[in-house]
Amino acid sequence: MSDKHHEEGHTGPIKNSKQLLITVVLAFILPVILIIGLVNFVGSAPKTGAGVGMHELAQAQRIQKIGSIEIRDANRPLRGGEDVYKGQCAACHATGVSGAPKFGDAAAWAPRLGQGFEALVQSALKGKNAMAPQGGGEFNDLEISRAVAFMANAGGANFPEPQPEAKEGDAK
Ligand code: HEC
Repeated sequence: MSDKHHEEGHTGPIKNSKQLLITVVLAFILPVILIIGLVNFVGSAPKTGAGVGMHELAQAQRIQKIGSIEIRDANRPLRGGEDVYKGQCAACHATGVSGAPKFGDAAAWAPRLGQGFEALVQSALKGKNAMAPQGGGEFNDLEISRAVAFMANAGGANFPEPQPEAKEGDAK
């Protein structure tokens, strides 16, 4: 009994080349799996911030369309303001996530309308505080400005829907 233990103490648990191979493979693979698991765990940890509504904001930012790669047809018909609003802006502006002026809420829009249409469009294109820049993605600047007009008008303004400038050679 004690002899056997003595033997094992010298030779160790690896007794043939197959066991050695298995040990070597496991010694490499296990840490790799562990590291992958750790990376995934850290990557998936919710990125939280202070303040109320951060969760909804994070969610809205995750679903908002930015930077998607798309082959665009330059001659496709431009989308109207309502379309763009529903596709891109409603995620925040329908409910008023993180202080976004809510759609149709004249009290929330009144102080902003005072800046004038151009300033509002610039905010929408370049982003403002919690609002990410909206210039990229699926819509072009004119469509974004149409969405601004659509939203602002619902909030009490009376901006005309922006129209593309007539290009040379445009059949009109
Ligand atoms: C991720 C959420 C989010 C999305 C998506 C979003 N907005 Fe906003 N928006 C905000 C927030 C928050 C504010 C308030 C910013 C501030 O003044 O602090 C805001 C403010 C604005 C303002 C007022 C800016 C000003 O200068 O007062 C306009 C105009 C506007 N958004 C247009 C749009 C348009 C058009 C879209 C879609 C193309 C859009 N937003 C999409 C969150 C969003």
